[in-house]
Amino acid sequence: MPATFSAFAKTVRLTPDNIDAVVAAMTPEDKANLIVGMARDMSDELRADVGYTYHIVPGVAGTTCPITYMGVTPLVLADGPAGIRMDSRRKGDSKDYFCTRVPMGTLLSSTWNDSIVAAFGSIIGEECRDYGIDILLGPGMNIMRNPLCGRNFEYYSEDPLLSGKMAAAFTNGVQSHGVGVSLKHFAANNQEINRLANDSRVSQRALRELYLRNFEIAIRESEPWSVMSAYNYVNGEYASQSKTLLTDILRREWGFEGVVMSDWGAGISAVDMVKAGNDMIQPGINGNFEKIVNGQKDGTISSEEIDACVKRILEIIVRTHRFNGYKPSEKPDLEAHSQALASMTSEGLVLLKNESALPLAKDARVALFGVGSYDFLPGGDGSGAVRCSHVVNLKEGLGSKGITLSERIDSVYECWIAGEQKRLAPMKTLRTWYQYDMRPLELPCPEAYTSYGAEEADVAVVTISRNSAEGFDRHLERDYMLHIDELALIHDVSEKFHARGKKVVVVLNVCGVVDVAPWRDLADAILLCWLPGQDGGTSVASVLAGEESPSGHLPVTFPMRYADVPSQNFPLNVPETGLNQSFEHFNAKRKYYDIPNIDYTDYDEDIYVGYRHYATRGVDVAYPFGFGLTYTDFELSDMKLNRKGDTVRVRVKVRNTGDFAAKQVVQIYATAPKDVPDRPKIELKGYAKTHLLQPGTAETVEIEFPVSDLAIWENGWNLKHGKWQIHAGTSSADLPLSAFLEL
Ligand code: BGC
Repeated sequence: MPATFSAFAKTVRLTPDNIDAVVAAMTPEDKANLIVGMARDMSDELRADVGYTYHIVPGVAGTTCPITYMGVTPLVLADGPAGIRMDSRRKGDSKDYFCTRVPMGTLLSSTWNDSIVAAFGSIIGEECRDYGIDILLGPGMNIMRNPLCGRNFEYYSEDPLLSGKMAAAFTNGVQSHGVGVSLKHFAANNQEINRLANDSRVSQRALRELYLRNFEIAIRESEPWSVMSAYNYVNGEYASQSKTLLTDILRREWGFEGVVMSDWGAGISAVDMVKAGNDMIQPGINGNFEKIVNGQKDGTISSEEIDACVKRILEIIVRTHRFNGYKPSEKPDLEAHSQALASMTSEGLVLLKNESALPLAKDARVALFGVGSYDFLPGGDGSGAVRCSHVVNLKEGLGSKGITLSERIDSVYECWIAGEQKRLAPMKTLRTWYQYDMRPLELPCPEAYTSYGAEEADVAVVTISRNSAEGFDRHLERDYMLHIDELALIHDVSEKFHARGKKVVVVLNVCGVVDVAPWRDLADAILLCWLPGQDGGTSVASVLAGEESPSGHLPVTFPMRYADVPSQNFPLNVPETGLNQSFEHFNAKRKYYDIPNIDYTDYDEDIYVGYRHYATRGVDVAYPFGFGLTYTDFELSDMKLNRKGDTVRVRVKVRNTGDFAAKQVVQIYATAPKDVPDRPKIELKGYAKTHLLQPGTAETVEIEFPVSDLAIWENGWNLKHGKWQIHAGTSSADLPLSAFLEL
């Protein structure tokens, strides 16, 4: 049936004040049309699905169905989270429609700076407004349960407080432009393998304290227009069909007032989704429309249930620019955004090691190694990919800072990469949109060039890159662990440069945690730049050149070895069938609980994820959660703690005792009273970043958190009486100050 018009013309037209009357005047078909997205059986012109939306804004992920005779405009939904995903070219139009590609979520959270993260969000929100997008499908905010989750690059942290606050800041930034976000993926969506049908089996305590907690914080501290329900099951029930998650917890307990939309193709029962409070079924598959109409007619779906969904969608529609007649300019200020990005991004670069190698000397001549230096990765792939106008690689970035590069090494790499590109071209066309492009292999046997470089240059910079994409989890070998050619390169460069007393810097241009312990002693400095967005090369170069100090801190632990990771139940090294495998399982078996870590995953580590495990059990790590160096030294002192009503306030003085201007992050952790059993040794409760502190200057930061944030889950939130120890420091492993709080 045609989706845009109902057979019965009515006179009620939607306004912000007559939503109830509009709902009352709608037919069951109108209501089903609004709920089920536009990817169902329709002509190409109307159809809307990831990458195939020709209607309104080409290439976005989906739209809702307009109900023209009632003045109900469509909602245009576009991925997220690192910028807008839409087509850059349009049929019969020679203009480019580029979007700004901001850094991956993990770099944003590495800033530990809410206002910078809001500014990143604001860039994207402004472009959404200018391109006519109503809801951005992001932020991605699942907890990094395991370092190999293929979508960790979109996510913020292993810690729920940092994740929730970052999501809130990002949301506030995007939404300041009158467009909405969709917090995703709700909930416990922590692996990609068999993502449509995997059952996350997780205790109530871990759910409440970790996997739901970040969403709860984001909803408390921002007002997201929408939440996206996840593909997976949670304890045997599809997240998108769970009334407990979507209605009881999200709405009744947390007071969420926006719309819940399903992830694309989630769930198996459209009727159960509506009954659970999943308002929008995206992108809408054939048959869903009929099921929702029939469900209303045969009473399986009550009028309260359907009307609640419809009303919530209309409440969002009336807030959109589209509904209010705003005509998008289609001319976002990409140039201004690009300039802003370069300096914002530096705040999320994490200096992991520095033995007098950085910043580079003013006149240093650099030998630039590693294909990643020339073929720099801006972001991950899948729905989170963004078509941007340019990507600045490290070579160009260093060049723009006036740093002299060894030309011969450059040309060797450029030549090698061109050859690799040719070799890979036929394979690229075989890959689908959600897979990442195959990367040029590392230059094998680089000995001749490393010797040359060590003679000619003053310092070596070696880039190691890793990409990741939706639908796949990462592998242990040649992915988490470095490839043998990468290790050989680091070894060789280190040997040759160190023999001449010259320094070696490694830049990690990676989608997530990688193995560092086996090779880190060979480097004098390690700068983690994650996937830093389109202007990343400029930001990294400005930090290497000493124009500014890095001030990022880790939002996730770098373990000594993968075997130390607490979430050992994870689909390790499953063959790369990705989404196909999910679809096979899903289509053939629907619900087939027999293969551990594929059909179901037991979260046996419970709440001991990341530093909650390492710190509590005294497991050595390569770089702890919260860690990050700068080009200066800081001293923390004068910790003051007081409580007023429900608010705990901590003050700490931070002094820059070195000789470089930089920012510092102060982190506050809590330790439960001694007699409370089975608790993590420390848990993050707050943080603050200083302003840029000039050498010799100090700032007192103030960090507040509600007493109720100390509650723990025991079939309900419980606040434990006794002596809580509150620590302050600059990482989970460096907490020099503490004070007691009696509850
Ligand atoms: C992803 C979502 C995304 C949606 C629309 C799904 O495959 O899981 O994160 O927003 O597609 O592209």
